[in-house]
Amino acid sequence: MEIKNLRSHPKDDLMGLGRREVNIESLSMQYQPDNIVYRDKEIEDLKLYVFSGKEFPPESVFIYGSSGSGKTAVIKHITSNYKNKKANIIYVNAGECRSIVQTLNEIYRSIKGDYLSLGTNPNAYSIEIVKALPNDKHNIIIIDEIDKIINGKNNDDLCLYPLLRPHEGIRNDVNIALVLIANDITLKDRFNSSIQSSFGRLWLKFYNYNEEELYHILLDRIKLAIKNTNYSWEESALKKLAKSASPIGDARYAIDLLKLAFINSKNNKLTEDDAISACERLEKTEIIKEFEKISDDCVILLFFINGLRGSRNELKVFPNIYSLYEIICAKMFRRTISYQHALNILETLEKTGIISSSEIPYMRGKPLKFDFRTSIEIVDELLLHEISRREDLKKWAKEGDTEVFIETLNAFKKQTKLDMSDYIDKKTGVT
Ligand SMILES: Nc1ncnc2c1ncn2[C@@H]1O[C@H](COP(=O)(O)OP(=O)(O)OP(=O)(O)O)[C@@H](O)[C@H]1O
Ligand SMILES: [Mg+2]
Repeated sequence: MEIKNLRSHPKDDLMGLGRREVNIESLSMQYQPDNIVYRDKEIEDLKLYVFSGKEFPPESVFIYGSSGSGKTAVIKHITSNYKNKKANIIYVNAGECRSIVQTLNEIYRSIKGDYLSLGTNPNAYSIEIVKALPNDKHNIIIIDEIDKIINGKNNDDLCLYPLLRPHEGIRNDVNIALVLIANDITLKDRFNSSIQSSFGRLWLKFYNYNEEELYHILLDRIKLAIKNTNYSWEESALKKLAKSASPIGDARYAIDLLKLAFINSKNNKLTEDDAISACERLEKTEIIKEFEKISDDCVILLFFINGLRGSRNELKVFPNIYSLYEIICAKMFRRTISYQHALNILETLEKTGIISSSEIPYMRGKPLKFDFRTSIEIVDELLLHEISRREDLKKWAKEGDTEVFIETLNAFKKQTKLDMSDYIDKKTGVT
């Protein structure tokens, strides 16, 4: 075990890692497992169209799916085991770059060994990349976390066009397959139609993991971590962790939980109690960090999302959340942010893992509904805290009790004549 490396990480040190004779590295986020489970179909598709090893040129593909759904792990697994002399694979993580220009420049550098300085027009960099690529190879350019630098607005995706269609006026003798990986599942819908059509048949969605899948991912990891030690674990501990991570379906979150449970475990055994306390701790600390950063408007929107928990789907849709937000803003003589802006805020917050959205396909316009992923007690406590510590909001909250907000929810309940969640009734005693 590489204790030195681990000790250099302050968070790990704080948690006292490195003292145990176990392979903690296998629980770190950088660890690339040899065994990727439950992604056979995705790996098969990618091998068929992109990493085939056949003579025909690979195709471009757009991979998307929520955090921790295995997109990066799968791509790294395939590329590190891919042996094809004809392939020239370039991988760049846009999340580590400041802009699209820097990302494209990183790609250029990995071909030519040096950066370009062509100003701020990303298109120019794409064209130079096309010119620089070898013509006797299958060039596969992978841009991970593309949504960190491109959002599909103002046609900012058009700079990818030369990489997708190099034969249109730049070069006829080069093959390029562009592999884009995005966490934002709505990005593809905002792409320009010419970019969309260039991806042809390959839009590959990575679904969230379910509880059983998460359990097996965790099982593999803990076996690796404690290999050749006298450590043991309770099956119920892993089950608890998998269950807790399953509403998000995020393997990274599940592994984070496992790591936390593990480092707090005693007597060389991971117990169910360790798992329970890890779930509580991680949930709370993560949310506190995020909540401190969000705007007042976002706090209000979240309050109503939380309040609508347990209600019917029809009630939880974004138009209703926004209406509630408008009502409360009117009461507070507060200017509202626009509908679209509010929606964007929630979609951004979704990336933090705190809330999740899903379409309601059977409703007209397929509206989005939002849900918290974490336990109601924790969110309740933190939201009350946020409302009462913010100057603009606290005058509406009586002694930390969010009376005006709750009244608004109740009025909404009467107005819609739909059965609101038990939660509101239980919490407030108002029916
Ligand atoms: N199918 C799997 N089998 C084993 N480990 C997995 C699997 N899927 C994900 N993991 C592990 O879970 C963690 C998160 O996965 P990964 O980084 O691939 O997520 P991602 O989809 O790229 O998320 P993001 O969108 O946030 O970048 C990694 O440590 C990865 O090794
Ligand atoms: Mg990733």
